[in-house]
Amino acid sequence: VRIGLLGGTGPEGRGLAVRFARAGHDVVIGSRDATRAAGVASAVRAASTDGGASPTGAVNRDAAARAEMVFVTVPYAGMLTTLEALGHELAGKICVCTVAPIEMVGGQARLKPVDGSAAEEAARAVRSARWVAALHTVPASDLLRGEEPLATDTLVCGDDAAARTAVLEVLACIPGLRGVDAGSLANARYLEGATALLINVNRLHRAHASLRVVGI
Ligand SMILES: NC(=O)c1ccc[n+]([C@@H]2O[C@H](COP(=O)([O-])OP(=O)(O)OC[C@H]3O[C@@H](n4cnc5c(N)ncnc54)[C@H](OP(=O)(O)O)[C@@H]3O)[C@@H](O)[C@H]2O)c1
Repeated sequence: VRIGLLGGTGPEGRGLAVRFARAGHDVVIGSRDATRAAGVASAVRAASTDGGASPTGAVNRDAAARAEMVFVTVPYAGMLTTLEALGHELAGKICVCTVAPIEMVGGQARLKPVDGSAAEEAARAVRSARWVAALHTVPASDLLRGEEPLATDTLVCGDDAAARTAVLEVLACIPGLRGVDAGSLANARYLEGATALLINVNRLHRAHASLRVVGI
């Protein structure tokens, strides 16, 4: 699959680039700055020891235009501005929102006030794309250790069942990551909230815990 990463120069985007390239997907790392994107793509290529595909870098617009599936890995603060400029490039494509709209207040993570969820705001900003939300509780630091299998689940939600299935299939390329179908996009608010909860639990226990669903 040709995968574009909007804001792919940050830890989450780089982590996904490492994993997807390792699995042989064609990855375009997007950025507001073409030089930064090229530098990160070159660093991901240099760090890859086992072949796989070679990520390239591009401005976000070109990353979106070239991709079949687009992952949104910008911070919430830049999400709507980024997406509103890319309506044409994203039309008809599967777009995966990884964004958790979190702020730290008094040492605690909490959700910023959003209209339902960041994912639903994204879907309203670009109505012509096929929106899915996923990966909220998968830490970038784990993704970046490309040789180590993960040991976690990610709940995947969206209103387009075929798009959810396509995203679950792509995520299955990451060893040790199990995707769990979580139904409609309205559930994204709980996944985004779970991210704040997980950050607070990890701070309390000085831990690096993640989430698993049992019984499915
Ligand atoms: N970090 C994690 O462990 C993790 C886990 C799950 C989900 N997520 C989600 O993934 C997203 C990215 O996380 P991150 O830690 O990688 O974030 P980050 O490093 O703060 O940002 C990622 C990239 O977004 C671009 N960016 C920054 N501010 C922007 C703005 N105002 N407008 C447009 N682009 C902007 C930057 O790329 P350029 O300067 O190159 O354009 C930056 O390298 C977040 O929404 C987060 O909730 C993160």
